[in-house]
Amino acid sequence: MTHPASVVYLNGAFLDRSQACISVLDRGFVFGDGVYEVIPCYGGHLFHPQSHLHRLARSLEAVRIKAPLSDAQWLEVFTSLLARNPGGDRSIYLQVTRGVAPRNHAFPSAEVSPTVFAMVDPITPVPAAFLRDGVAAITLADQRWQRCDIKAITLLANVLARQEAIEAGAVEAILVRDDVATEGAASNLFMVVDNAVLTPPKDHQLLPGITRDVVVYLAQQLDIPVKETPITLDALRRADEIWLTSSTKDILPVTRLDEQPVGNGQPGPLWQRVYRAYIDYKHQGVF
Ligand code: PDD
Repeated sequence: MTHPASVVYLNGAFLDRSQACISVLDRGFVFGDGVYEVIPCYGGHLFHPQSHLHRLARSLEAVRIKAPLSDAQWLEVFTSLLARNPGGDRSIYLQVTRGVAPRNHAFPSAEVSPTVFAMVDPITPVPAAFLRDGVAAITLADQRWQRCDIKAITLLANVLARQEAIEAGAVEAILVRDDVATEGAASNLFMVVDNAVLTPPKDHQLLPGITRDVVVYLAQQLDIPVKETPITLDALRRADEIWLTSSTKDILPVTRLDEQPVGNGQPGPLWQRVYRAYIDYKHQGVF
């Protein structure tokens, strides 16, 4: 029997997940040659779909894959997928690869069309203990490439970093390049110093997170000073508060960094204010 929560979209068709197959020659499989997006849906409303579609267009352009669908077509796919996979808070995962072709590093001929895949996953609620006590993070050297602003499916360095964090009893690895902390393995980075919120500027070293933009906007609405500035590892170690943001984890307060307490070791007062504003904003459903 088809499980209602397992209908996926693959190349124009809606299929049960167990029936959806791609070729072993798909360049996503063979080379990690593709890009992706994760778009949350709260109370039936997609969270900033235009910002996600804009970032998708940017990623596709950067890796020179022709956009397979228009924004309107993507939105139709999302609406259909959500209707076929009813539930509470969910996220859409979508992936576009350069398509199926004999293995050759160079691009295939122009007739090869991209592989387009999308599915719906439930969003696992952030554990209450994370919000009450905060989470642990470790710092690690950033082993990734020079275009971390592209949401590429090629995530081996991120996977290894996250696993190292988990094995160290932490929830996330904060990546450091040339003594500057850029972002987490799958999250953006904020810190609080002297009642101001600081986050690294958008550049090729980090993903321009949609949650990051909303957090910057909400902090400004609360009249909290926000500054986009590089965060040195040294400054991070002295921060009053550290936060990590992502589409599936909202805003996590980091209360232990490399086994040392952050600030007083408790989720900080600015996190409390911005987190509350973020949850209210999510529930308004107007994006
Ligand atoms: N990852 N930086 C990296 C490297 C990420 O992978 C993510 C999100 C973010 C936060 O971006 P956003 O706020 O738009 O989710 C920053 C998603 C959730 C993932 O890979 O599952």
